[in-house]
Amino acid sequence: MIQFDSDRRLFSISTDGSSYVFGLNDKGVLQHLYWGDPVAAADCAPLLGSRLHSSFDAALDREAEEFAYWGGLSYMEPCLKVRWYDGVRDLRMAYASHRIERADDGKETLTIVLRDEAYPLEAHLVYAVRPGHDLIERHVEIVNAGDRDVVLESAQSAAWSMPELRDYRLTHVTGKWAGEFQLRGAALTEGKKVLESRRGFTDGHANPWFAIDDGAATEEAGRVWFGALGWSGNWKIVLENTAFGRVRVTGGINDFDSEWTLGPGERFETPSFVGGYAAGGFGAMSRALHRYQYEHVSPGKELRKVLYNSWEATYFDVNAKDQMALAERAAKVGAELFVVDDGWFGQRHHDRAGLGDWIVNADKFPNGLEELIDRVRGLGMAFGIWVEPEAVNPDSELYRSHPDWVYHFPTRPRTELRNQLVLDLSNPAVKSYIVDFMSRLLGEHDISFVKWDMNRTITEPGMRDHPLNRQKELWIRHVRSLYEIWAELRRRFPGVAFETCAGGGSRIDLGMLRYADQAWPSDNTDAFDRLGIQEGFSYAYAPKLMTCWVTEAVSGMNKRITSLKYRFHSAMTGTLGIGANLNEWSEEQLAEAARLVAQYKAIRPLVQGGRQYRLAALKHKGVDAVQYVGVGESGEESVLFAFLHAQKLGDGLPRLCLLGLDPDKRYEIEGGAFDCAKNEEPESEGAKGEGAEIEGARGKGNDGAKDVRSGRALMRIGVELPLRGDFDSLMYRVRELRS
Ligand code: GLA
Repeated sequence: MIQFDSDRRLFSISTDGSSYVFGLNDKGVLQHLYWGDPVAAADCAPLLGSRLHSSFDAALDREAEEFAYWGGLSYMEPCLKVRWYDGVRDLRMAYASHRIERADDGKETLTIVLRDEAYPLEAHLVYAVRPGHDLIERHVEIVNAGDRDVVLESAQSAAWSMPELRDYRLTHVTGKWAGEFQLRGAALTEGKKVLESRRGFTDGHANPWFAIDDGAATEEAGRVWFGALGWSGNWKIVLENTAFGRVRVTGGINDFDSEWTLGPGERFETPSFVGGYAAGGFGAMSRALHRYQYEHVSPGKELRKVLYNSWEATYFDVNAKDQMALAERAAKVGAELFVVDDGWFGQRHHDRAGLGDWIVNADKFPNGLEELIDRVRGLGMAFGIWVEPEAVNPDSELYRSHPDWVYHFPTRPRTELRNQLVLDLSNPAVKSYIVDFMSRLLGEHDISFVKWDMNRTITEPGMRDHPLNRQKELWIRHVRSLYEIWAELRRRFPGVAFETCAGGGSRIDLGMLRYADQAWPSDNTDAFDRLGIQEGFSYAYAPKLMTCWVTEAVSGMNKRITSLKYRFHSAMTGTLGIGANLNEWSEEQLAEAARLVAQYKAIRPLVQGGRQYRLAALKHKGVDAVQYVGVGESGEESVLFAFLHAQKLGDGLPRLCLLGLDPDKRYEIEGGAFDCAKNEEPESEGAKGEGAEIEGARGKGNDGAKDVRSGRALMRIGVELPLRGDFDSLMYRVRELRS
């Protein structure tokens, strides 16, 4: 997959669906040449060579540098910028050597060593490819081979050069609390567009991935170049379009307020930045990222459990009796994991106190946590618990004993957000305290799931016990320490699954997902809002990693009323959970929920491991649809979820063409058994009245009868969508017919 052509001085990385070629030109610049559909590397040779426009633009080839060190005639976003002990701030990195290695699993790695001409500094550029993936994993290791310190002012993971396109459209997400993962498209004209976090965690305002196309790519077709960065602290992705039409995307740890002093013999490793090329549109891009996460990022390979979480049911008013009642009902509807959220510890009766005191509250649990855990286990469920180990309320025993354990500047007030401060994870004592209390919690109780939350950004970034000239290391030290804590806990407790949460979806990225089995994308559980959030999530992250809850009929967010079926269908497109107050649900509602949970379990392997197709053809009609395809016991299987926002003028919907099936296979569609008819819902649940049935719209599926069609027909003629009224939904199960 990786080759070096020594005659032409060309490096090439070939995957099944892509070629990535760069070379060393006559000036010694490591010049990017090609990224796209497969080509022969030798055919890229004519592209290699230094270029100039005028004495003011004397090194155009450096606009396409693989690793843009800051020095000489380089004016684009640098990948490496340093400050030497003698005040010099200039680099001249020249190619020194390279090596290509092959691991037993077929993974190939190319390491190119660049060395400064005068100072003892090396940059090891690492490119890795895995069989069957059109992705390149890149990172850089900076090595101080001398005997004096060098300060790294910026050390980025990779720069991705784009090919020449007619236009450049950037696709990314933006968001806010309860509104994460909102998709955006922006034309990249000359200049810079920066996506970043400066808040200490990944952040819900932006997420570290990007996609670029020529403006014409769709879900199903078109060329897309993309990348996702694995860093859970301050990050930056800079998209730059030069006056000469070169587009380069540089990303890594944010250099804002950041520095790292590299001592003699030390090595600094940047986070991984994965890049890819997809010829089949945004859908192909997402499927490539999902499969990569399933196979090489996510720690847990097993199916994720249907969970119940008590947060929206009880908030801080947690007690053994109510939780046990909730557990009875959660088990009844088919939950496999019962998670107690915030409020079980210390004096945590509200968000103003108790955070940091990880001791079971004896008033709330007079017989200890064990009583609840035993009941949950007795009901056949696993038990999970919420923690927020990185933060502390000033009103807590922990803070009263260790007021200096938080990030702060001695001369400044300590800003409180949600009445809390952030613990200084760079302090070894704090780190051990977290590992110790978590180990006690997980060691003393039968806990198999941890929801790890982080509900505030970092302010006053001062580390009391750290040298003054190294204070800007905080942003990196916090994240590294966090990763080390998670790695240690996973090592000590291999049977425990972890969920990453940060006031909703503020810490979801490929770095965190190496440790977290699943992620909480948003505190917004409105089933309709969630469709958009979940779609944005799915551009970069896999459905199995996305926890979705069914909550109350009237959403707390928008006061929108949706049916139980709609809420379930929305949540069934990821890892299903329930977060409503089941103690207030009627027997009918519980029975319907149980039916829907059972349906989810039947299609779960497809949702949690199959290929995902976002069906965008009827978006203009207000239809969101998503389909999953995989192989089941009886052959190829698929499941379709479709959602109608608002019917207008009594119009029916056009058919919806499916994707990803084999045109020559015959499939059986089940709509009836899997589509709870509207009249089965309790009247109070629905926002819809009974209207005239659209002729033939529900098709045969509605009465449970089987309907057989070819893959070709399903993909070219499509399926009927008997969706009506406001916030209607359906689920079709499609299975290969073998006889
Ligand atoms: C955050 C999380 C919620 C919940 C609360 C508890 O907001 O995102 O899901 O756990 O904290 O305080």
